[in-house]
Amino acid sequence: MIQRSTLILPNEQAPICLSPRLMQLAAWISRGSKVLDVGTDHALLPIYLVQSGRVKSVIAGDVVEGPYQTAQRNVKMAQLESTVDVRLGSGLSIVEPGEVDTVVIAGMGGGTIAEILDEGRDVLACVKDLLLQPMNAAGRLREALQKHGFVIVDEQMVEESGRVYQLIFAQTSTECLVRAQYQHFMDKDQHWLACEFGPLNLSRREEPFVREAVEASRDHFQGILNRLPVEAGDATTLRREEIARHLSEMESWLKEEHR
Ligand SMILES: C[S@@+](CC[C@H](N)C(=O)[O-])C[C@H]1O[C@@H](n2cnc3c(N)ncnc32)[C@H](O)[C@@H]1O
Repeated sequence: MIQRSTLILPNEQAPICLSPRLMQLAAWISRGSKVLDVGTDHALLPIYLVQSGRVKSVIAGDVVEGPYQTAQRNVKMAQLESTVDVRLGSGLSIVEPGEVDTVVIAGMGGGTIAEILDEGRDVLACVKDLLLQPMNAAGRLREALQKHGFVIVDEQMVEESGRVYQLIFAQTSTECLVRAQYQHFMDKDQHWLACEFGPLNLSRREEPFVREAVEASRDHFQGILNRLPVEAGDATTLRREEIARHLSEMESWLKEEHR
């Protein structure tokens, strides 16, 4: 589990040491960009970005009072009140369109991140880079990225404290390029698979964790299918059919690897 709201810096001199997950997100941030960290909690990422000189200033937002105060305390302890602007509020609503060009949203459900993007269309229209780390529902999030015209330029699966997280780096693009990114998988009836695990992840078969993630998901869905009653109502039948389609997509991709 990601630790929430408990992290206070040891003292103002101590340099921030990021976890592998946050370190990868930081590595994707272009020098000098105007960054908003949504759901900042401890504000470790914004503090690191300024301390390392990658950016001059950052906006750090959280919708919950406790994490907001933790962020403020950590920023004060790091003596960065003039460069890390901590704001209380939901999603992208705490900035004006054009105020930031890069948005980080990490450590939330994929559905919540998708809603934040939907609700912040005016701000999103001026955003170039999106750095995302969903805790679940990565497929729903990638569908939202397609809808909003963002193409995935890099993806990583990163292990932290025994759990593997999907990290997504997306950039604003054209409808044509966004569609092209998934076309290869659509041609093979693997669109759900590509959304769930990522078109770049799936094309990098040698990467650690990708095959394991697909196998674990296959076993999970097979378990659900085994428990669903065969003789049941329409809703169960539809669910069985949907799971069977997911299983077929995963099995076909796993088999391709052995060619
Ligand atoms: C698990 S923490 C993640 C902290 C940090 N981003 C990380 O990845 O380590 C999730 C944070 O998101 C905040 N949050 C949830 N929904 C939010 C929203 N709609 N807008 C802003 N913050 C939100 C929560 O209050 C919490 O502090």
